[in-house]
Amino acid sequence: MNHHYQLKIISLKEVAMGLFRLVFQSPQLANESKPGQFLMVDCNVGIASTENLFLRRPLAVHRTNIKEGQLSILFQVVGKGTLALSKATAGDVIDVIGPLGKPIEIDSSVENIVFVSGGLGIASLTALMDVASERNLKITLLSGARNSYRLYPTQLLPEGVIEMTATDDGSAGIRAPITHLVSQVQENADIIYACGPLPMLEALSQMRTDGMLAVDTIGLLESQMACGIGLCKGCVVDTDSGTKLICVDGPAFNLREVIWESQYTP
Ligand SMILES: Cc1cc2nc3c(=O)[nH]c(=O)nc-3n(C[C@H](O)[C@H](O)[C@H](O)COP(=O)(O)OP(=O)(O)OC[C@H]3O[C@@H](n4cnc5c(N)ncnc54)[C@H](O)[C@@H]3O)c2cc1C
Ligand code: FES
Repeated sequence: MNHHYQLKIISLKEVAMGLFRLVFQSPQLANESKPGQFLMVDCNVGIASTENLFLRRPLAVHRTNIKEGQLSILFQVVGKGTLALSKATAGDVIDVIGPLGKPIEIDSSVENIVFVSGGLGIASLTALMDVASERNLKITLLSGARNSYRLYPTQLLPEGVIEMTATDDGSAGIRAPITHLVSQVQENADIIYACGPLPMLEALSQMRTDGMLAVDTIGLLESQMACGIGLCKGCVVDTDSGTKLICVDGPAFNLREVIWESQYTP
C-alpha cells in the first residue's frame, strides 16, 4: 500500500563528496517502508520551487529508524531535481508518494551475504544491510567509487559489516572495478545483492552465466520513471519470464534473468 505524504525535513547533510543525506520525520512511512523500496519525490522544494519540476524523481528508501519515526534518502546531484533537493533546509516540507516497488526479503536460510555497491548503489542497499545486521548475518560490502572522497562513510555503515573498497584512481582500496573483488569473497556467500551502474550489474550477470559466480545475484535496476506505479510503461525490462516493469515488479531482479540488450535501447 502506498500513500501520499508531506514530509518535514529534519536534516540535510553532505556525508561524502556530492553525496547528500536527507532525513525526514514520518513514523508511518518509516514503519511501512522496507528494504528495496523507493519513493517518488516531488523536488519542488525550498528556493528552487520556482523551477516547477513537473515529474517526480525516484529515490530509494536509504534507511529507516522506526524508534525515532524517521527515514532517509541518499542522493547525488545529477540534474535539476536533485540540485533542488540539495538546497532544501531543515523544516522544509517535501511531497512524496511511497513506499513503492517490491520489498526485498532475506531468506531465513541465508547466513552470509555479499553486497556490491557501485557509486550511488549504496543508497538502495543500506536498509537491507541494516536488516542483515539486526539478524547477525555475516555481511561483506564491496564498495566502489570514483575516488575515496565519494565513498559512503564507513562509520555510518551498520554494525558488523566487513568492507572492501575499490576506486577508479586507487585513492582507496584497489584500483579496479569493484567487480574484481567479488571472486575473493563469494566462496561462502549464500546470496549477492548489487546496486550500481548498468555495466556493473551486467558484468555480474555475465560472471554468473560464465560460472564465475557460484550464487544468485539480485540486482536493483534503475531507469527513468515518470509514474513509479505501473501506468506509463516507461521502465520496462525484458526478462526470461517476460517483460516486467522496474517500478512494480522490481527494482530487484535476479540478474541471471535479465535480457541486457533491452536495457540499453533508448
Ligand atoms: C528505483 C530507483 C531508485 C533510485 N534511487 C536513487 C537514490 O537512492 N539516490 C540517487 O541519487 N539516485 C537514485 N535513483 C536515480 C535518480 O532517480 C536520478 O538520479 C534522478 O531522477 C535524477 O533527477 P534530476 O532531476 O536530478 O536529473 P535529471 O535532470 O532528470 O537527469 C540528469 C541526468 O541523469 C540521467 N538520469 C535521470 N534519471 C536517471 C536514472 N534513473 N538512471 C540513470 N540516469 C538517469 C538523465 O538522463 C540525465 O542525463 C534511483 C532511480 C530509480 C529508478
Ligand atoms: S515508471 Fe511508469 S510504469 Fe514504471
